[in-house]
Amino acid sequence: MSLPILSLPILVTGGTGRLGTQVVARLLGAGPTVRVLTHRRAANDGVGQVQGDLTTGAGIDAAVSGVGTVVHCAGSAKGDEAMTRTLVAAAHRAGVGHLVYISVVGADRVPVIGRLDRMAFGYFAAKRAAERVLESSGIPYSILRATQFQESMLAVARQLAKSPLVPAPTGSRFQPIAVDEVAARLVELALGEPAGLVEEMGGPTAYLSSELVRSYLAATHRRRLFIPLRMPGGAAAAIRAGANLTPAHAVGVQTWEGLLASAAGS
Ligand SMILES: NC(=O)c1ccc[n+]([C@@H]2O[C@H](COP(=O)([O-])OP(=O)(O)OC[C@H]3O[C@@H](n4cnc5c(N)ncnc54)[C@H](OP(=O)(O)O)[C@@H]3O)[C@@H](O)[C@H]2O)c1
Repeated sequence: MSLPILSLPILVTGGTGRLGTQVVARLLGAGPTVRVLTHRRAANDGVGQVQGDLTTGAGIDAAVSGVGTVVHCAGSAKGDEAMTRTLVAAAHRAGVGHLVYISVVGADRVPVIGRLDRMAFGYFAAKRAAERVLESSGIPYSILRATQFQESMLAVARQLAKSPLVPAPTGSRFQPIAVDEVAARLVELALGEPAGLVEEMGGPTAYLSSELVRSYLAATHRRRLFIPLRMPGGAAAAIRAGANLTPAHAVGVQTWEGLLASAAGS
């Protein structure tokens, strides 16, 4: 039996981004009416884009009006605590019934204390702060923590490969997961009962960051000089100790090697 709020539209924030576009595609296939929030000029692409800015708050009340569920994927490399506050306040006013939020593995385990930590790893603390905004909102919620997306790591590797010298933070590892697999789980959560903080999900294998770049270079037949870099601070130490990994939840099936093979061929 479907939930009553599923007869109402679902709003996807960040629905134009890497994760959000996959979420929107899957939701459209599942049946509900979907609205996509963008802070740019809304495109008339048949998907139902609405314009609203989570930084200024402009247009957000209208975007959430009449919505049953919000899947919140808008964010930036700095995190999205302030944007989440704005969204949650508007969702409260509109009587939204379910907030679904994408967080990051390590949000609760990477200590961000000093200035150095904040500069390099403030993202983790900001994601945990955004989680807290949902937890204290009074609105039923589901929060999923995922590891870094393979497609995001590929974009980073592409960027680093533009330079002849590649900085290689020693000891830091990543467990990249295919963005489509995260999107599938978010859609499952959005179409179900609010579930609180659910089991986190990570990719099938963890790699040193240097291995990720080296494998990308090998797949694209290039060589670069690596400069080992030991990052100072407590957050970097936690990352070296694996705080951003989830070996017990290595549920991703699609592999980094598979993505590299298709990227090298494209
Ligand atoms: N990338 C990763 O490896 C990773 C891993 C775990 C969790 N996450 C989380 O997953 C989420 C999505 O990540 P992503 O990589 O898909 O991000 P992305 O591709 O950079 O997309 C960011 C989205 O945020 C929206 N946005 C930015 N500023 C906005 C504003 N002021 N108002 C409204 N919308 C705004 C953008 O939409 P418009 O520009 O159209 O407004 C865009 O759709 C983020 O919360 C991120 O923290 C990411």
